[in-house]
Amino acid sequence: MKAFNTVFGHMLAQGNPLDVLITGDDAEAKATMAAFIKSLGLRPMDTGPLGMARWLEGTGLVMIGLGRYGAGSFNFTLGVSTLPERARTTTSRATSITRTSSMRVFVTGGTGHSGSYIIPELIAAGHEVTGLARSDTAAAALSALGAKVRRGDLQDLDGLKEAATDSDGIIHVAHRQDLLFSGGIHAVAAAELPIMLAYGEALAGTGKPLVATGSIGSPGQGFLGRTATEEDPALPSGDEHKGTLRARNVVETAVVGLAEQGVRSSVVRIANIAHSTTDRAGFLPTLIALAKEKGFIGYPGDGANLWNAVHIRDVASLFRLALEKGPAGKYWHAVDDGGIPFREIAEAIGSRLGLPAVSVPVDELVLPGYFGFLANIVTQSYPASNLVTRRTLGWEPAQPRLLADLDNGHYFPAS
Ligand SMILES: NC(=O)c1ccc[n+]([C@@H]2O[C@H](COP(=O)([O-])OP(=O)(O)OC[C@H]3O[C@@H](n4cnc5c(N)ncnc54)[C@H](OP(=O)(O)O)[C@@H]3O)[C@@H](O)[C@H]2O)c1
Repeated sequence: MKAFNTVFGHMLAQGNPLDVLITGDDAEAKATMAAFIKSLGLRPMDTGPLGMARWLEGTGLVMIGLGRYGAGSFNFTLGVSTLPERARTTTSRATSITRTSSMRVFVTGGTGHSGSYIIPELIAAGHEVTGLARSDTAAAALSALGAKVRRGDLQDLDGLKEAATDSDGIIHVAHRQDLLFSGGIHAVAAAELPIMLAYGEALAGTGKPLVATGSIGSPGQGFLGRTATEEDPALPSGDEHKGTLRARNVVETAVVGLAEQGVRSSVVRIANIAHSTTDRAGFLPTLIALAKEKGFIGYPGDGANLWNAVHIRDVASLFRLALEKGPAGKYWHAVDDGGIPFREIAEAIGSRLGLPAVSVPVDELVLPGYFGFLANIVTQSYPASNLVTRRTLGWEPAQPRLLADLDNGHYFPAS
């Protein structure tokens, strides 16, 4: 039999839940191999009798070609995905969700990057969505997405509690980004915590779902020394973590803790880079803008630290699945590319901008000189797995991965 030739060794070493294509004529040998593959946390995919072995060999060559040309790096894997989410709207699966589990969902942040994909995702699955709008512009945007509008602000906790009581579940992706520059990440977290506790009061004992956002850095940012999983809790955060991403962990811990009060609460940890055609303010546009400004694309030190990425449309489908069927008190990993060396991301951006990728020394003066407020984020490593998320919720990222999405050109308009 034949197996494993379509998986690059370094991808295996990163601990991602990869697909392993196998072929063979002996059913018992195949079953043994499949069990072995599963024991490694990987997914065996049977491609048929041994005659297919030559095509697996050819597939290996295709991967080498893809690495050199199409993908632009060897940090990728071949896998089997379910149909793109667009097709789901016409499948019987979507229809059955409509009939059996339609929910009235309250969504905050529906005008933002992730929320504007989450609302159509929910509506396509048959749910009724009410979005929070703090302005006429936001109200119009939510209506255009097909949502009902609830006027209000994140600062009105009583209003949020009322909205929670009036709904069958909540997806909360709004955040007080206005506080980021005045008070830093600590202030954003400090404003978010009472919101979560207010939801908790409104939903206690109901078993209703509350799905909130988290960061893929919360379980470790490299401190674990291994790939972070959904079983890793958010690191504790205290006063000494003011000004760092870790200050936000207190929110994740509070949300997951609401499970003990009878709320079906969970946290979707979003990858460092959430990409899409409408990504205007994420890390990727920021790195691209920096490169254009400085005339080169920088990476910290040797650039070997790992970042991760996900398409925002896949994030949306994960929020929906967590809402519909996620058990209480869980973390989910919205991660597709589980660990790309920062240098490869920089080189990919540089090649598309026609700018060189250059190492920026990890020095307390030089690093912020290039990366500004991103300095303490870009040096960290965030290897993360999505195995538990995929297995528990049946989530299958179906959208282009980071390097392929960079090839789509929307991050690099001609003018
Ligand atoms: N890689 C990533 O992008 C990443 C990674 C980890 C975590 N996250 C987290 O994921 C969440 C969603 O991020 P995103 O990029 O989708 O958000 P975003 O595009 O920045 O949008 C923010 C949303 O919050 C709303 N909002 C802000 N202040 C409000 C207020 N006072 N009252 C009511 N609504 C308010 C905005 O509404 P208006 O239209 O009215 O402004 C907007 O809909 C955030 O918590 C973010 O920190 C993102």
